[in-house]
Amino acid sequence: MKILAVAAGRKNGNGEILLKEALMRAEELGAEVKMINLHDYDIRPCSGCESCTVKFTQKHEAPECVYKDKDDMDMIMKEWLAADGVIVAVPAFSFMPSGLYRVFCDRHLAYEPNFHKQVGNKAYFRNRVGAIIGNGGSTRSWMSLTLESVQITLLAQDIKIVDQMMVNRAPRPGQVLLDPAALERARLLGENIVKSAGAGERPPYLGDRSMGWCPVCHSNVLSLGQPLWNGPGYAIECPVCHCGGDLVKDAEGRWKFEIQENGGERSMLDGSGAKDHFFEIRDTMKLYYSKLGEIGEKQKKYLDYKPKGLSR
Ligand SMILES: Cc1cc2nc3c(=O)[nH]c(=O)nc-3n(C[C@H](O)[C@H](O)[C@H](O)COP(=O)(O)O)c2cc1C
Repeated sequence: MKILAVAAGRKNGNGEILLKEALMRAEELGAEVKMINLHDYDIRPCSGCESCTVKFTQKHEAPECVYKDKDDMDMIMKEWLAADGVIVAVPAFSFMPSGLYRVFCDRHLAYEPNFHKQVGNKAYFRNRVGAIIGNGGSTRSWMSLTLESVQITLLAQDIKIVDQMMVNRAPRPGQVLLDPAALERARLLGENIVKSAGAGERPPYLGDRSMGWCPVCHSNVLSLGQPLWNGPGYAIECPVCHCGGDLVKDAEGRWKFEIQENGGERSMLDGSGAKDHFFEIRDTMKLYYSKLGEIGEKQKKYLDYKPKGLSR
């Protein structure tokens, strides 16, 4: 069993320490482990060309990123996709995952398993599990979108999240070493990922279920429901796993998020959400291609208008 750990924080920082605790435990249990820090690699920001999305949805073909041989991303993704389990350790920067991690994940689009499945690319039909370590210098309120944003990136990669943990109030490199409970929790996370890899399509969630509102993915953020592209939405939706339902009061008078009967129809946990998104993009881009002349005409005004920029 192969486990790949990806650090997006400082070299020898708190995230790396937590990852190493998890990996030491995974190795004790027989896993073959590897670890990378994204700072060590050349990863270009996505150019936004959308050639991967166009190829997927308009040509029904498996794409290759236009940067495939131009930086280290393809090499990293080969390991990432071949791993039975991935663990990511991502620091909070301004409440969110660090920008480096986001740059890495923007490039995932060309490698999105649920899109490759839609175009019949057999190489992507694999069960993979994931675990998340979110670490920051402050309390959870100051890391409010960190775990949730990382969850989204793994679900988009068709990785079943089996555990997640958050470490707070460890700002300086190595400060997490003063928190034995965090190190112990990281060991358990390493154990949980080994236990779950190979558990099939629906591995059980082994993390702390009280971490958030959503009874499905345990995220701690909720959104007012939005109309869907092809039907009505839900009253309340989970912006992470896309399950829908409403807020209800439990017997003790506390609000909880209850999933409605059809609330899992666009779930990011079983691929149905990503599949729906594939067809939404296909439809929306078709409109673009049918109106190229009109867009070209209307665009002239904006191409001709050249406001001043900054000179170096
Ligand atoms: C630019 C920047 C923004 C940060 N923003 C937050 C934040 O919003 N919330 C928080 O809890 N910690 C924040 N931190 C602290 C880091 O998350 C903290 O130093 C963490 O331990 C870094 O992880 P590492 O040691 O693995 O690199 C920030 C640090 C930097 C450099």
